[in-house]
Amino acid sequence: MQIRTFHPDDEAAVIELWRRCDLLRPWNDPHQDIQHKMNQKDGLFLVGLVDDEIIATVMAGYDGHRGWLYLVGVDPGHQRHGHARAIVTEMERVLRERGGRKINLQVRDTNQGVIEFYKRIGYSIDPVLSMGKRFT
Ligand SMILES: CC(C)(COP(=O)(O)OP(=O)(O)OC[C@H]1O[C@@H](n2cnc3c(N)ncnc32)[C@H](O)[C@@H]1OP(=O)(O)O)[C@@H](O)C(=O)NCCC(=O)NCCS
Repeated sequence: MQIRTFHPDDEAAVIELWRRCDLLRPWNDPHQDIQHKMNQKDGLFLVGLVDDEIIATVMAGYDGHRGWLYLVGVDPGHQRHGHARAIVTEMERVLRERGGRKINLQVRDTNQGVIEFYKRIGYSIDPVLSMGKRFT
């Protein structure tokens, strides 16, 4: 898999990948999410390609202290080949290079498969309660 930063021409393929990975949510407009990320100009949105086709994504946020992972997805037809491990590892490398010391992420506590995936690639469950407030 070739890994590179997202390019605006990738948008349709990426959104279709997120649909196939069940990463789309009715309260998030993926076009707007991508536009907001592009406005950050931080290079923290990576895509993975096999035979010139986008099969993996990862987005990250970095505030100078911690990194956050979002939208980790691998096309169902390409899962269990180490692609998610590879693209997340590349994002970890970028964040470390920028001085990040820890990565956080959120996953539904019912999503056992994804929890197992993250454990396999070195993440552990923090003894914290995640809180949030939605601007609607
Ligand atoms: C979770 C996801 C990204 C994993 O992608 P993947 O490319 O199949 O993962 P990898 O092949 O890199 O797997 C890395 C390790 O995790 C394990 N793993 C992956 N998915 C797993 C699952 N569902 N259950 C148990 N273990 C799993 C692999 O066996 C592998 O273990 P190993 O290195 O010890 O052999 C993919 O299943 C996906 O896109 N799911 C839908 C989107 C999603 O839920 N994303 C997370 C949002 S929080």
